[in-house]
Amino acid sequence: MSEATAQPETLLAVEDLVVEYPVATGTFRAVDSVSFSVSRGATVAIVGESGCGKSTIAKSIVRLLTPTSGRIVIGDTDIAQLSERALRPFRSRVQMVFQDPYGSLDPHLTAVDIVGEPLRLQGVRAKNARAKKSAELMDRVGLPSTALHRRPAEFSGGQRQRIGIARALASGPEILVCDEATSALDVSVQAQVLDLLREIQKDTGLTYVFISHNLGVVREISETVVVMSKGRVVESGSTAEVLAHPREPYTQAPRAAALDPTAMVGIKPRHVLSRQAAAPQQTESTPSLAEQSSAARSVGASS
Ligand SMILES: Nc1ncnc2c1ncn2[C@@H]1O[C@H](COP(=O)(O)OP(=O)(O)O)[C@@H](O)[C@H]1O
Ligand SMILES: [Mg+2]
Repeated sequence: MSEATAQPETLLAVEDLVVEYPVATGTFRAVDSVSFSVSRGATVAIVGESGCGKSTIAKSIVRLLTPTSGRIVIGDTDIAQLSERALRPFRSRVQMVFQDPYGSLDPHLTAVDIVGEPLRLQGVRAKNARAKKSAELMDRVGLPSTALHRRPAEFSGGQRQRIGIARALASGPEILVCDEATSALDVSVQAQVLDLLREIQKDTGLTYVFISHNLGVVREISETVVVMSKGRVVESGSTAEVLAHPREPYTQAPRAAALDPTAMVGIKPRHVLSRQAAAPQQTESTPSLAEQSSAARSVGASS
């Protein structure tokens, strides 16, 4: 970490990103000319209603998909169209934490193997070296050493997410893309995991792209925010400023949902994807930004 650096270094710059999915009717543009950047050690949040393209951006940054056009510049290199071979060194530098701790961890492996797997892929061949590093990482994310040989089913949701974070940290990344990483968790557990992420950032200078549809969470974790709607950026800037002056509501969600973060689980059934792709529309009750913002304000007022 270099706290004395005067000019923050831009670590990640997304420029004019376009992602189109092939659909029955041709192509569906899920992400349309999206640009934003984040400095090393900082957090940018991407927020917006379900289906607005957040996960598509996340998958582009970690190159689980190849964007249609645009640039994803990490340091000096545009990785948007790099071949799998050329991407290899970047795979360990950019890691992702997924929303669903249940679905993203292999149920047959023990925690120590799950966390150590990226090390194996990186070529750490000695099993005990991997186990040692896994144990350190699990300790780092607040899991007891008794957890090492348990399987995902034996952990709570919050613990599983800690395993997901430990695993993402194993390759020593510079950028962590958290896609709704705390959205499936109870409010109190969500707060603990956010604290952990903040602590890790303070210790390691990690850079976060933090994706959420919960403005209360975004307010907690990010300095800057990119607000999306229907694949486009509709607003961006300092989180404090954007949240103080939210745009018009996108959706007609009940206000109760905005006040109850447990109702903000952004899991999207697979079968609605194709329908949305053909005729993009809002089908879920994600609270509008204005509603969430007022909820976040009333929550934040006491702290
Ligand atoms: N593989 C796919 N094929 C076709 N359409 C897709 C695919 N993945 C996502 N979409 C559509 O792209 C849009 C953006 O999806 P996504 O990035 O998952 O949004 P978010 O994460 O903001 O909820 C949605 O309308 C979704 O239905
Ligand atoms: Mg998503």
